[in-house]
Amino acid sequence: MKPLRPTWCEIDLNALRHNFSEVRRVAGEAAILAVVKADAYGHGVEGVVPALIDAGVEQFGVALVEEGIALRQMGVRQPILVMGGAPPGSEAVILANDLCPILSELSSARRLNDAALAAGARLSFHLKVDTGMGRLGARSEQLDELLPALRDLQALEMVGVMSHLAVADEPELPFTAVQQQRFTKIESQVRQAGLSPRFWHLANSAGIFSLDLSAQTLVRPGIVLYGGLTGGFFDQAVSQKPVMHLVSHIAQLKKLAVGDTVSYGQRFTAERPTRVAAIPIGYADGYNRLLSNRGEMLIRGQRVPVAGTVCMDWILADVTDLEQVAVGDRVVLLGSDGDNCISAEEWAEKVGSITYEVFCGISKRVPRIYKN
Ligand SMILES: Cc1ncc(COP(=O)(O)O)c(C=O)c1O
Repeated sequence: MKPLRPTWCEIDLNALRHNFSEVRRVAGEAAILAVVKADAYGHGVEGVVPALIDAGVEQFGVALVEEGIALRQMGVRQPILVMGGAPPGSEAVILANDLCPILSELSSARRLNDAALAAGARLSFHLKVDTGMGRLGARSEQLDELLPALRDLQALEMVGVMSHLAVADEPELPFTAVQQQRFTKIESQVRQAGLSPRFWHLANSAGIFSLDLSAQTLVRPGIVLYGGLTGGFFDQAVSQKPVMHLVSHIAQLKKLAVGDTVSYGQRFTAERPTRVAAIPIGYADGYNRLLSNRGEMLIRGQRVPVAGTVCMDWILADVTDLEQVAVGDRVVLLGSDGDNCISAEEWAEKVGSITYEVFCGISKRVPRIYKN
């Protein structure tokens, strides 16, 4: 159904395919696992996943078992890596949906092995190792015990070894090289234990465009697919196009006299004869309240500022400087309009966040409309 409220997210699948082709350009022989957790970083798996399959993606990565099941229910046949692991109780659905969890300790490996044996099935997994992120993963010193124990679990097959980088988005820092060295050491421990998994992978988006990938047989891009990899270094290294365009339309226009105020808290006072536009989007849609009196948007291709406090369902814009403006005009809150663009990076800087959170924060009540 066409949305009744004129506020939606246009998801530009051409831009997504372009960003994917940039990853392919540098990935060489490495397979690409597209990270589509959190509903494809807020862009919607429903449109993003089929477009990536058409573009030739080899695998998908999700955080939750539930997200993996949702992909299977969409008909996805590619391997699906569950990067949050296998919580107790998830064994049967992991097997039934042919999901590939990460594992880094024995108790969940044993639970999965028992479930697989009982079902007469085999299950692939990737070993997650911690080279310095300090989050999930086994450390090198645990591997002498862990690797033989994993090898002896008959229904499980280790098909990959992975780690996650903590500062790849700051390529000037030396710590990524430390993590790479630790990963190389772990690779020899794994091989010495008689295991030879096919997939070796470290690189997230930033790693893909800043590291030597010759030792990697898989890469795990997320944010770059959505056009949100930020920083001067990456502006040079990769050409990205914004995928998400958050769009609304002017619902009402009014004239303010000098001294009139708008919105909660009277935080905007007209200092000249002013025109304000009411736009049906607010913090319940993910339009961050910190953008009160700070955010900007594009109307008729021109930037105009948010006037006053962002409400739950509405914002106001000061449109005094527009030569022409009318009820029904298109408003771009994120993304591009002609040559102008409100980037996720600009928005993120204003609210003290990162592009990831801007995308993921656009709430479910904003319909996603896919454009080919
Ligand atoms: C384990 C893992 N790999 C890859 C990614 C993709 O990272 P990015 O979106 O920075 O490319 C993530 C995302 O957080 C992750 O958790």
